[in-house]
Amino acid sequence: MTVRVISSSWLLLAGAICLHLVFATNTHPIADIVFHNGSIHSLDEDSSIHSAMAIKDGYITFLGRDSCARSLIGPDTRLIDLEGRMAMPGLVDAHMHVLEGGSDLLKCSLNYQPLLLREVLSHIQSCLDTDVDKSDDDWLEVIALDYYTLTDSTGGVNKFDLDTLAARRPILVISADRHTRWVNSAALTGSGIDETTSDPAGGIIERLSGSREPSGILQDNAGGLLAGPAPPTLEHNLQAAKAALKLLREEGVTTFQDAEARETSAAAFAAIKDEGSLSARAYFDYVVTSPNSTTAVESLIDDIVNFTQKWDDGSEMNPRPTVKWQAAKLFMDGVILYPANTGAVIEPYLVPTGNGSVWEPDPRPKPEPYWASDILDLTIEQLILNQIDIQVHTDGDLAVRETLNSLERFRSSHGDEYDYRVGLAHNELTDPQDWPRFSKLKADPIMSFQWAQAMPEWIPNTLNSMGPIRSNYLEAWGSIAQSGSRIIYGSDWPIDPLDEWLTIKVAVTRSGDPTNPNSPASLGPPYDGPGLPGPTLTREQAIRAITIESSRFLRADKKIGSLEVGKLADVIILESNYFELPDEEIGRQKVLLTMLGGEVLYVSDGMSFGGIIPRFPNNDTLATALDKKRVGGVRGRSLAANGRQALQRVRPRGACGHGQLHRN
Ligand SMILES: *[C@@H]1O[C@H](CO)[C@@H](O)[C@H](O)[C@H]1NC(C)=O
Ligand SMILES: *[C@@H]1O[C@H](CO)[C@@H](O)[C@H](O)[C@H]1NC(C)=O
Ligand SMILES: *[C@@H]1O[C@H](CO)[C@@H](O)[C@H](O)[C@H]1NC(C)=O
Ligand SMILES: *[C@@H]1O[C@H](CO)[C@@H](O)[C@H](O)[C@H]1NC(C)=O
Ligand SMILES: *[C@@H]1O[C@H](CO)[C@@H](O)[C@H](O)[C@H]1NC(C)=O
Repeated sequence: MTVRVISSSWLLLAGAICLHLVFATNTHPIADIVFHNGSIHSLDEDSSIHSAMAIKDGYITFLGRDSCARSLIGPDTRLIDLEGRMAMPGLVDAHMHVLEGGSDLLKCSLNYQPLLLREVLSHIQSCLDTDVDKSDDDWLEVIALDYYTLTDSTGGVNKFDLDTLAARRPILVISADRHTRWVNSAALTGSGIDETTSDPAGGIIERLSGSREPSGILQDNAGGLLAGPAPPTLEHNLQAAKAALKLLREEGVTTFQDAEARETSAAAFAAIKDEGSLSARAYFDYVVTSPNSTTAVESLIDDIVNFTQKWDDGSEMNPRPTVKWQAAKLFMDGVILYPANTGAVIEPYLVPTGNGSVWEPDPRPKPEPYWASDILDLTIEQLILNQIDIQVHTDGDLAVRETLNSLERFRSSHGDEYDYRVGLAHNELTDPQDWPRFSKLKADPIMSFQWAQAMPEWIPNTLNSMGPIRSNYLEAWGSIAQSGSRIIYGSDWPIDPLDEWLTIKVAVTRSGDPTNPNSPASLGPPYDGPGLPGPTLTREQAIRAITIESSRFLRADKKIGSLEVGKLADVIILESNYFELPDEEIGRQKVLLTMLGGEVLYVSDGMSFGGIIPRFPNNDTLATALDKKRVGGVRGRSLAANGRQALQRVRPRGACGHGQLHRN
């Protein structure tokens, strides 16, 4: 991709060009908003860069030089002086779990911090005190407890510690790794768990010493005995959606695809849209599981067609955000991370034998893909013929291969004229033979670049369980790109904190950022070096993966994903020029303004652009409540350096987290 800068030789033609653009684009050329004095990266086919851009009625009406934009400025036009800054299309994140992400933001969170018992209790009390509208029956759920640090400093905790709090509500505290649940007496009583209750399969009810009385610590499946918390209400989901949308505005995400959606998301986002507070273009993939036989595929397809038609808002894309249901989501496997090893792999996982220093092929049967190939074939065929797009969770190389095989069989029986979208999400392990098949079969690789960092999830055990050859084929988006595919980015938030710029940094360097608390590199050796081996993306490829390529997957690239005359004005302004920053600083980027369809939604604290008041204030009551509920505030803004390190050390991107999320 060559970068074409509008050069000074164009000056000679300036008058003619300006007139041409003005008359070609709009009969009422006076703009609502004009950006000028900037470095506006359009990400169009030529990667053209302009200093000025005009917007009218939510659409871009002009891109070019400042002198040309002058004739579009009327008395009511708002001027945004970029002062040399970079503007670009809003980010389009093709894979996240927006309601779960928002719901996590709403919960009382200990934020993975190594806290003393006194500090833990004091934070929980402040959450209880904030929840003024709760009754004694409403459970309080507290997440992200660093349980190991707490047991080290106390020798162990139990229900009596929580009983000292001023509350009658049942309280449930969940450890960072989600294996341990710590509850108060009200939670045990309310759930009917007592000395007569025996341990369930795969779970332990810890007991007070010398008795059968439950101590208040429940391990693994014993958590399933708890009677609460109640499933989220619509009211909770609305709050969660709002919290998520707020974070998206701050990150510059103007369009998202929720990769695993059900009726709960549908109802919440339909309501959010109705009340006018939707602040991103919303795409939802309806998640389904495999039927038991090919004869059941027909009713599955009916259900998908019915469901997506019911909830899609049916409107054409326009300046105001729409809610689209146009894809189904299938899971082919789990995750390859050790010790889960539930991803479908071509060769067996290696597992430790003997004294643990030797890893050998696991003699047990390998995990089967969740969809048998005949059922998958028929489902993919029927979805494509019914014009439903498809996103498939494929983590291991066998899941990837079998999905590509299905698509290959579709093409061999139906030809290659169908304009389908079949996205393969994650692809953490791929076999080199399959790299060129993505491009050949027009399958879209949807990747999460941040996972190529050196991190505890890989080092040492997942790499041991992959063995020396496969360890070179992890997070192979660079190789897939080199074999002809255009890569699409999806963050998978909240599996990781939402940090789009860190992840773009990893795309370009395959290394993290030691100064960024969201990066494992901030942990120091052995994580601060280069990440997993493999080719990187160019800056151009990386930024396109999260703008125009993700828009293409959503069939929205005629309207968004690049800045072009006639497209919607979804625009962000950056603190630093992405194309000029040194590699090591790419992940320290900040979004200063987020605009959707010509409307300014967000302006970062301390900034002002043409005096425009953003639609959403930064310090509303939701923001204040969210900040209070999490130790260190939303995004850990007020954590000290050691607190940030702790966050990175304990926070899992574990198999557990992922599995948990997908079971909910
Ligand atoms: C353009 O931006 C520069 C900073 O890069 C600033 O010094 C200058 O005043 C701006 N010019 C106009 C016309 O706003
Ligand atoms: C598939 O089989 C499982 C277990 O045999 C059963 O619980 C489930 O209801 C079946 N699903 C369908 C769609 O028939
Ligand atoms: C889908 O809707 C059609 C017509 O409304 C109905 O006949 C059919 O039973 C529905 N199928 C499913 C699986 O809900
Ligand atoms: C573990 O076993 C391997 C191979 O049998 C041996 O080389 C190594 O020294 C053993 N390590 C320990 C700590 O015993
Ligand atoms: C938010 O900030 C504005 C401007 O700084 C201020 O006027 C307003 O009182 C603040 N609102 C809250 C809820 O803090």
